[in-house]
Amino acid sequence: MLALNYRGPYRVRVAHKQEPPIEHPHDAIVRVTRACICGSDLHLYHGLVPDTRVGTTFGHEFTGVVEEVGSAITTLKPGDHVLVPFNIFCGSCYFCQKELYSNCHNTNPCATAVGGIYGYSHTTGGYDGGQAEYVRVPMADVGPMVIPPDIDPDDAVLLTDACPTGYQAAEMGDIQQGETVVVFGAGPVGIFAAKSAWLLGAGRVIVVDHVDYRLDFVRKFAQCEVVNFRYVRDMAVHIKRMTDWVGADVCIDAVGCEAAGSAVQRLTGRFLKLQAGTATALHWAINSVRKGGKISIVGVYGPTFNAVPIGNALNKGLTLRMNQASVRRYVPRLIEHIRAGRLNPKAIITHRIPLEDASDAYHMFSSKLDECIKTVLIPPRARA
Ligand SMILES: NC(=O)c1ccc[n+]([C@@H]2O[C@H](COP(=O)([O-])OP(=O)(O)OC[C@H]3O[C@@H](n4cnc5c(N)ncnc54)[C@H](O)[C@@H]3O)[C@@H](O)[C@H]2O)c1
Ligand SMILES: [Zn+2]
Ligand SMILES: [Zn+2]
Repeated sequence: MLALNYRGPYRVRVAHKQEPPIEHPHDAIVRVTRACICGSDLHLYHGLVPDTRVGTTFGHEFTGVVEEVGSAITTLKPGDHVLVPFNIFCGSCYFCQKELYSNCHNTNPCATAVGGIYGYSHTTGGYDGGQAEYVRVPMADVGPMVIPPDIDPDDAVLLTDACPTGYQAAEMGDIQQGETVVVFGAGPVGIFAAKSAWLLGAGRVIVVDHVDYRLDFVRKFAQCEVVNFRYVRDMAVHIKRMTDWVGADVCIDAVGCEAAGSAVQRLTGRFLKLQAGTATALHWAINSVRKGGKISIVGVYGPTFNAVPIGNALNKGLTLRMNQASVRRYVPRLIEHIRAGRLNPKAIITHRIPLEDASDAYHMFSSKLDECIKTVLIPPRARA
């Protein structure tokens, strides 16, 4: 089959690879129909995620048709068109019982933090991902969901990560009626966080980025105010000025470890590697939120540590919440929002690209070319 193949930082190519077999009675093999590229894939692509092995296939946001099921599978059958959440989880461990699917104890047993994730290095279990013609789906009885007939597959593929992650970001902000929410990052996750903030009762939503076309998009898509940080001297002062000098009630970090905006963070995080990437957005979030405010972090940070002003967070009495999203928890309610017309996830798709051209697609998304917001890779058979 054709599959994306990691060759080293900034180098991916599509090559032939052995089709995955059923390895366990709880597996399914899925023929991919759509696979998105996520901002998290850029951390892999840029060589920032430890133990990303040459030859692995990325891709944790995909839909596909069930081709084959293991002997223990009862909820899926060949021919079902499914959306597959990016988390691989067992559904029954201590953490899954608490609906902390992203922290499943059984699918990444060598780690004590995150559970299994498709195509996200050996630090999340070493599973191959869905930017391929076929993918092995472990624990296939609990993760995948048959796409309801009235749900567009383009909406479905966005329910595997970006949309629920943005929603969870807003939910972790514990937004009270009328509160002011600042979202750092106008990528797919930040866009959905901004939209979800309204659904959860925000009275004002402000999105910060430095890419004009993304700010233009989010302003219309999420009816929010926008700030281009290129023109801001001091982010905390700017947000305070916009909020009667109090600060935002909730700040959401939807940027993570590759943030721009601070020469010191870039020097120490990207070039000298004294910290695990740049934590500029989190820094701004902590300093821009009001005393007693809430910080929600979904932008990804990895081991081992980052330079953030934790003393300010303590002295301001902040609440910090964060996690990898537990996608499955949100899919049913997001489907209701789509049905009711309150959410239109597929509107963020800007590019549909043949899987064979994934290398160009990564370059475009990474360099923010051609007004790219969300790219869907389509394997040859799904285009027929
Ligand atoms: N927690 C989860 O479950 C989860 C799931 C998906 C993605 N993520 C993470 O969320 C983050 C965003 O993902 P995405 O797909 O939207 O990525 P993306 O790369 O498309 O978007 C990130 C945006 O942040 C902007 N940005 C850079 N520095 C900034 C700063 N200092 N302040 C404000 N904006 C800044 C960039 O210009 C870009 O538009 C990534 O770190 C990704 O790994 C987390
Ligand atoms: Zn993702
Ligand atoms: Zn589990």
